[in-house]
Formats: sequence, C-alpha cells, structure tokens
Amino acid sequence: MAHYFENDDKVKTNEMTHQVKIRNLDLSFITDHGVFSKKGLDFGTRTLLESIPIEQMNGSILDFGCGYGPIGIFLKKYNQNFLIHMIDINKRSLNLALKNAILNDVVVNIYESDMYQNVSTKFDYIVTNPPIRVGKKILYEILLQAKKHLKVGGKIYFVIHKDQGAKSVMKDMKNEYEVTLITKNKGFYVICLKVH
Ligand SMILES: C[S@@+](CC[C@H](N)C(=O)[O-])C[C@H]1O[C@@H](n2cnc3c(N)ncnc32)[C@H](O)[C@@H]1O
Repeated sequence: MAHYFENDDKVKTNEMTHQVKIRNLDLSFITDHGVFSKKGLDFGTRTLLESIPIEQMNGSILDFGCGYGPIGIFLKKYNQNFLIHMIDINKRSLNLALKNAILNDVVVNIYESDMYQNVSTKFDYIVTNPPIRVGKKILYEILLQAKKHLKVGGKIYFVIHKDQGAKSVMKDMKNEYEVTLITKNKGFYVICLKVH
C-alpha cells in the first residue's frame, strides 16, 4: 500500500470537497486518495491552528509538509499580510494545495521540496503538522534543520501526539531551542521551539 508521502500516480483519484470552519473562517478544501487526511481537516492540524497565538504573529511563514494546504491557506486567509511559503514532497498534495489556494482566493507560494532542499529564504515562523510515520530520525532532522531556515528569534509551531513521542521530543529539543508547550488536547501537543 502506498503511503501519503510517496509519489504514486497509480493510486486512483477521487477528489472530494470539504467545508471547514477554523476560528470563524469558512474554508473549502479539495482532498483526494493518496494525501494525508483525505477525509477532511485532521484533528491535530485543527488543534495547531486553533491554539497558536496568531494575533501576535507577523512576517513570513513556512508551512512544511503542506499536504492539500490547510495550514498555509488558513493562515493567509486569516491575515493577508503574512507571506506564506508551502512545501511538500508529494506531487498530488502540491496540486491540491494549488487548487485549494485558488478555491479560497489566497495568494501563496507553493513548491516541491524534499526536506528544505528548495527553501532558500529565512522565515519568522515554521508552522507544521510534520510527517511522523517516516520515523523519529526524519522528524528530528526537520526540527533541527529548521534553525537554518529561521530568522533570529524565529519560532517553529508544531503538533505531535503523545503516542508519537511528544514528551521525549520536548525534552530532546531543550538543548537546541527554548521549548514551550502551547496546549494539550486529546493527546495532541502543540509545541513552540524558539531559536535562542
Ligand atoms: C502529517 S502530513 C500534514 C499535511 C497537512 N499540513 C495537514 O495538516 O493536513 C505531513 C506532510 O509532510 C509531507 N512530507 C513527508 N516527507 C516530506 C519531506 N521529506 N519533505 C517535505 N514534505 C514531506 C507529506 O507528503 C505530508 O503531506
């Protein structure tokens, strides 16, 4: 069986449109087989978007592993002044993210990147529901390499379930970042890592 993070054109397509409300914003998202959370907004992603201190944020944001696009598109819809970049390794996800940006009438930068390969600017924030199924090693690489793509004082906001090692990630990141727990909801931890 193909995983959502692989590029497999053989996975048959069945696009579905979902109406989603996040923090009083009405959004529509097309999803498909072969992408993460094809049944609609993931609960971890919702918890992330409803708990980050969005009113205090400004500047540029990287949505790492954008999938069909809920994070970057929501953030841009919430505040048109954000400069948003959205990356993913999966082509079908990227195509859906493009369609969804048009559907929700937002202008964002969407491009293919394996890890940070094609990321050439530094951001104020990285906001992500990171790929976990690829294993702890890749997750740690995403979080540790983020430093090179954040401005001084930049922050990563990410979500991880307790069963996926939320507590140990928080502990392990303490050597590298200032670590803050933003919220816990039904086992999902929203964590902030701040560059010293
Ligand atoms: C947990 S999903 C989150 C998707 C979307 N942001 C959401 O919240 O619904 C993680 C995403 O990371 C992408 N991904 C996996 N490995 C990657 C890599 N090496 N570089 C970039 N993106 C990757 C997957 O294709 C997937 O879309």
